[in-house]
Amino acid sequence: MNNIDWGKEKEYLHSTRQHLWNNDYFEFLVKCVWKIDKPVRIIDFGCGYGYLAQMLMPLVPQGSTYKGIDISEALIAEAQEIFAGQKDVCFEVADLNEYEPTSEYDIAICQAVLRHLTNPEDIMKKMIGAVKENGLVICIEPSRRMENAGIFVDSSSYNPFENDDFLKQRWLSEEQYGGRDYQIGMKISVFMEKLGLKNVGVRINDYVDFVSAGHADCKSEQRRFITDHGLDEKYADSNSYLAARCHVISYGYK
Ligand SMILES: C[S@@+](CC[C@H](N)C(=O)[O-])C[C@H]1O[C@@H](n2cnc3c(N)ncnc32)[C@H](O)[C@@H]1O
Repeated sequence: MNNIDWGKEKEYLHSTRQHLWNNDYFEFLVKCVWKIDKPVRIIDFGCGYGYLAQMLMPLVPQGSTYKGIDISEALIAEAQEIFAGQKDVCFEVADLNEYEPTSEYDIAICQAVLRHLTNPEDIMKKMIGAVKENGLVICIEPSRRMENAGIFVDSSSYNPFENDDFLKQRWLSEEQYGGRDYQIGMKISVFMEKLGLKNVGVRINDYVDFVSAGHADCKSEQRRFITDHGLDEKYADSNSYLAARCHVISYGYK
């Protein structure tokens, strides 16, 4: 695993989480794709400050429970504060490499975690081991190459190809030395089948991050966009910005 301490990246984590999903699409997944129509027991691998719990719990039937696991004490402390007094939600500090689930779950989910691990298949095996027969394993991971291809900046100096070589070198060396895999989103469904899951499906999140020149808070939104997408500072004064987030969602039934 690379050495990011996500507890120190709270600002980035919060900012990017506000620009990951369309609520209607997430609700569509819960109700029409994952078809969660009875109370479920959910375990979230690498839960951070509990963002997925915030998204999921209002949408799943009453009586559902959620447990989040994360290695970062700071993020788990924040999650516990956010959900203080909510008995159906709990969190635990643990390294996923060591963690052994002690209960059985209906759904094991993770978001933007496998891409940071050198052994995603081992952690997916644990996710599979955590769910009951016919349980659901859901992995939400980015495909940065697709995401980058979709960026558009409304500036005469914008060259959509200028980052390609730079990113290619970065991705290759990160994969070789740092353990971060920018293409993980596109590999997960193949891993799922290899690991014996049935009914594997793949979707692409429909969220598009758009900062319009007419946005009420355009300057700070531009800055946020530049940071979130790793764009060159020279585009700070451009007019509008657009990028598809390209989170690839794979889900398989055990
Ligand atoms: C990009 S964040 C995503 C957090 C959360 N899933 C979300 O979408 O907001 C990656 C998370 O994985 C956690 N993580 C990374 N390696 C881990 C490990 N070995 N065991 C447990 N958690 C880990 C980090 O602490 C961090 O919270």
